[in-house]
Amino acid sequence: MAKRARLGIAGATGWLGQAFGLGLLSRELWPEADLVILNRSGRTGGYGPYPRVIRAHNMVEMQDLCDVIVLSVRPEDFPLAGFAPGGRLVISFMAGVSVARLRALAPQARIVRAMPNGNASEGASYTPWFAEGLAEGDAALVARLLGAMGVAEPVAHEDHVDVLSAISGSGPAYPALLALALVEAGIAHGLPKDVAERAAEAVVAGSAGALSGRMAEARAIVEALRGYRGVTAAGIEAAERAGLEGVIAAAISAAVTRARTWIREDEGGGGA
Ligand SMILES: NC(=O)c1ccc[n+]([C@@H]2O[C@H](COP(=O)([O-])OP(=O)(O)OC[C@H]3O[C@@H](n4cnc5c(N)ncnc54)[C@H](OP(=O)(O)O)[C@@H]3O)[C@@H](O)[C@H]2O)c1
Repeated sequence: MAKRARLGIAGATGWLGQAFGLGLLSRELWPEADLVILNRSGRTGGYGPYPRVIRAHNMVEMQDLCDVIVLSVRPEDFPLAGFAPGGRLVISFMAGVSVARLRALAPQARIVRAMPNGNASEGASYTPWFAEGLAEGDAALVARLLGAMGVAEPVAHEDHVDVLSAISGSGPAYPALLALALVEAGIAHGLPKDVAERAAEAVVAGSAGALSGRMAEARAIVEALRGYRGVTAAGIEAAERAGLEGVIAAAISAAVTRARTWIREDEGGGGA
């Protein structure tokens, strides 16, 4: 009889590891008894309702038990002691740890880099992933596993993962900055703070419905609002004059540079 595959998550009770592990279990994408979890503290986290989940005590034990290893620890905690996955399928969620770095540590492993985002716990992540020369069966398994967090798609170049770690990987960072700026502007113009916060929430969170699935129309939406020549148009034009697009471009450039530099530091052996 064929041996059943086991999946291990290193960092399973962290923010992302838990979103992934519980996504797999709650959507019945992976059997409870074939999931192995590893963390630093020994806490159970959100896995309490799943008593058949197996707990590994260290990386060596996890590797002995599993065919697929997911690395969801912080880059500065990697490599975990005993990391030697042999020819196993290894899926890394770690920002800034390159395939070359992983391959240097695990030359025989089938390596995948994936970059989920802050919507993973709601099952609404956009998760790009990259691998070189992955067999069809492995690619299908990776797509199924990452589907536990939302939409997943392969990208053609590893560098795209780093660029995307700066965009989708930043999760709510930029919408939160926008919300703060709207609140501060409202207060500066005399609004009570709680009113300004509700108004900012309506803009930032409430606009999701209007924009969802319509990214290709974003320019047309802006132009339609500009076309009214009213209050919103005055705001759009002032934002453009003040360089809003340039501000976002500078933020993404800095974050992409950080992701790429992190890799070079890693490859030089310096760590994060
Ligand atoms: N958060 C995001 O939105 C996001 C997005 C894309 C990629 N990532 C990447 O995902 C990874 C995890 O991020 P996170 O935000 O989930 O971090 P986190 O919440 O700090 O979780 C880290 C996990 O690693 C475990 N851990 C730390 N040292 C360990 C060790 N020596 N042995 C075993 N387990 C150990 C922790 O154990 P305890 O639970 O016991 O503390 C925890 O479960 C990072 O590499 C990050 O770059 C995160």
